[in-house]
Amino acid sequence: MAHLRIAFVQGRPDFGRTEDNLERGLALAATVDAQLVILPELWSTGYVFSSARELAALAEDPRTGATAQALTWAAKREKRWYIAGFAEAARGGRVYNSAMLVSPTGIRAVYRKLHLFEREHEWFEPGDIPLAVHKVGPAKVGMLICFDWRFPEATRALALMGADVIAHPSNLVYPNAQDAMRVRGLENRVYVVTANRTGTEKRPGGTVPFTGRSQVVAPSGEVIVRAKKSEEVALATDCDLALARDKALTKLSHLWNQRRPEFYGAITARPRARRA
Ligand code: ACM
Repeated sequence: MAHLRIAFVQGRPDFGRTEDNLERGLALAATVDAQLVILPELWSTGYVFSSARELAALAEDPRTGATAQALTWAAKREKRWYIAGFAEAARGGRVYNSAMLVSPTGIRAVYRKLHLFEREHEWFEPGDIPLAVHKVGPAKVGMLICFDWRFPEATRALALMGADVIAHPSNLVYPNAQDAMRVRGLENRVYVVTANRTGTEKRPGGTVPFTGRSQVVAPSGEVIVRAKKSEEVALATDCDLALARDKALTKLSHLWNQRRPEFYGAITARPRARRA
């Protein structure tokens, strides 16, 4: 029987203190027994940038930067997998709000946030890499980042590609996002692991309070484990992958077989430009 033990880390990174934040995140991770540990969005840097120059100075190479090095080392030493959010420095001075998937033998994948939120548009390029599902031990894992929650097509696409687990590093600000992710789990019959930030970041670029309440949602939509709003904690749970692979709702009702994609064309049609 295929199982994966998954943990999230919830914490409060200090803006711009990459090395300290990585150390703190890995220290929290060390308190849990899990095969995959997920840290929040932009864990290494913090969230509220005040200029493109500030972001450029903190953005990291996805293979050789501080986050890649720290997670590669931890994953190798602990013989387990990590996912964490970081600011990705790419060619041509572009910066993406990204998450890396790290195995015990090195970096496996990078996901670039598709749906940027608010002032992120000023700092980051929107993601340009197709959604993908990755083997993590016996599981198939897809990555999303924070505000991607508001676009159910992204979770659906990953579920249709075979994801058992959606890893969701976040810096959530809407109080209803956690409940929405229960629906994403229910409607796709997948595990959804949201690793969220806590605390408030006060910076020249703005003041942003984060909602904590990181959670693991089961394919039934039930919350298996959830952190409190303000605690810094890592929590783990066992995920029975068979539950995510069984898309039969009853003997006669099947989540995948009953889909009618020929009627869903509006979802993938090229959108007309709309006023903001
Ligand atoms: C968010 O996407 N960080 C709200």
